[in-house]
Amino acid sequence: MPRPQNASNRLAESAAKMIRGRLGRLKPTLGLVLGSGFHGVAAVVKPKASFDYVDMPGFPKTGVKGHSGRLIVGTVAKVPIMIFSGRAHFYEGYSMEEITFPIWVMSRLGLTDLVVTNAAGGIDSKLRPGDFMLLRDHLNLMGVNPLRPTQPGGWDGEFLDLTEAYDPGLAGLLKKSAKKIRLKLKQGIYAAVSGPTYETPAEVKMYGRLGASAVGMSTVPEVVVARQCGLRVAGVSLITNAAAGTGGTEVNHSEVLETGNLAESMGQALIREFCQLYADR
Ligand code: HPA
Repeated sequence: MPRPQNASNRLAESAAKMIRGRLGRLKPTLGLVLGSGFHGVAAVVKPKASFDYVDMPGFPKTGVKGHSGRLIVGTVAKVPIMIFSGRAHFYEGYSMEEITFPIWVMSRLGLTDLVVTNAAGGIDSKLRPGDFMLLRDHLNLMGVNPLRPTQPGGWDGEFLDLTEAYDPGLAGLLKKSAKKIRLKLKQGIYAAVSGPTYETPAEVKMYGRLGASAVGMSTVPEVVVARQCGLRVAGVSLITNAAAGTGGTEVNHSEVLETGNLAESMGQALIREFCQLYADR
């Protein structure tokens, strides 16, 4: 089994043990990471157990208790699921190892499928604030790769193939779910940058020319580690704003949060429907 490096290996096992101890007969195969604009999804889960990240071994301590992020294990549409509400970001100063720690834990718990969500700025003019975009592929522009070991000698000697980072089967289920709830699900390429600044208009222009449809500051490290662990992955972005220089206004965080709040019920409906189809597949 692929493993995180150094101390994380032991910590991942402790965290997995802690979670396993509370699952009872629940055997989740599906994991969901909720980014900005998707936190409302946590409300549609019938919970069996929940954990504050601050209380869990190895989890990034992203702020005060209660706001740090929570793992909720339960069911959505009868599908056993692990929902990670909140994530640590590279721009906050966390290492790649810390950011991707929950993925290593999921893999240890036997999860096979992962849906990652985020907020992103739209670069493609067809993407408007409030739109949902299915990730067809990504550009890693963060300047680092989460599989690069922190010490020489830590690499496992394998070059991970990412030809099909995003699973067509899961993507198909998301498309079907969107249709059912009459949501026009767009598709595109997600470019991940490190942050914490928003982009300059020149950068946005360049990313567009490189093939990016939208830009954000997360998700790609989790996807890469999930693929390393053999999980099938799907990704959805909520377009919260026009990327810098494309919308005539400045980019600000309150706009990002506001669009997130407005789109909350749509995100909830999409995931609920997805779980229904996931159960019936
Ligand atoms: N740029 C980067 N990350 C983002 C944006 C953006 O415009 N909007 C939401 N996350």
